[in-house]
Amino acid sequence: SQVSVFSVPFDRGAARRGAAQGPEALFRAGLARKLEALGVQYTAERLAPPPHAKGTAHDGRLKNLPEVIAVNEALAARVHAAAEAGHFPLVLGGDHSLAIGTLAGLTRHYRRMGVIWVDAHSDLNTPDTTPSGNIHGMSLAVGLGKGDARLTAISCDGSSISPEHVVLIGARSLDQGERELIRREGITCYTMQDIDRLGMFRVMEEAIRIASSGTDGVHLSFDIDSVDPSIAPGTGTPVPGGLSYREAHLALETLHEAGILSSAEFVENNPLLDSGQRTSRLLVGLISSLLGERIL
Ligand code: ARG
Ligand code: MN
Ligand code: MN
Ligand code: MN
Repeated sequence: SQVSVFSVPFDRGAARRGAAQGPEALFRAGLARKLEALGVQYTAERLAPPPHAKGTAHDGRLKNLPEVIAVNEALAARVHAAAEAGHFPLVLGGDHSLAIGTLAGLTRHYRRMGVIWVDAHSDLNTPDTTPSGNIHGMSLAVGLGKGDARLTAISCDGSSISPEHVVLIGARSLDQGERELIRREGITCYTMQDIDRLGMFRVMEEAIRIASSGTDGVHLSFDIDSVDPSIAPGTGTPVPGGLSYREAHLALETLHEAGILSSAEFVENNPLLDSGQRTSRLLVGLISSLLGERIL
């Protein structure tokens, strides 16, 4: 099916500036050429950055809330329209708060969504548990219908994702409130310790089964900080002990082969923090693996 690429130059869900330039950096690192070489049929659209909200009361537990709402409303509408047209939405961030809009657009279309969330973090904070007030640390919680009502309302009809079809992969930095939510909701979480022991291939087989059984759509949300900072330095919240180059590629190759995905997003690429184009180039390769690039 046709891929609808959405570039979203937005980073006000994060503490550090720079992820807004992530999508441009991917095109500079050769994304379009790669898609063409793979024979992928695609359209590309860049969303406008939301106007800076002046004079609104600042809430330290929900930083830049008006901008986060504006960009995610727009993104949800675009993603929904693409899914409706039978296309494969591919969102390029931007910070991970954009998953709020992507997931909202998808739940308007699909009745039961599976979500594979590859990340060093779980992004399951709410305004009551957040240590930072940064909304990129809350987006999966919002997708599950938890947190501030102005954010959960973006999915319109209030439809949300069911925790039994959510799988976290690569976690190694969880806040206490997030750990409790994972246990309470019974969310499957393959931490780095699990990946060490089981191996990435087995983890992916299980993740694919959990996300695709009994669902009519499966979304991949890929935060580049899942990958070890020694090979992906261009990101705002790096955590040591991450995925290796091959583990990251294997995860995406396995997803391509399984053919279960209906949408994907790649977020938290921050070219201002990158060493040269290292992280952007890595991401172009990872996106290529997801879209079918093979060694032989
Ligand atoms: N758990 C921390 C917080 O809530 C860090 C979140 C980082 N999230 C991300 N998408 N990089 O502030
Ligand atoms: Mn994240
Ligand atoms: Mn629809
Ligand atoms: Mn992260």
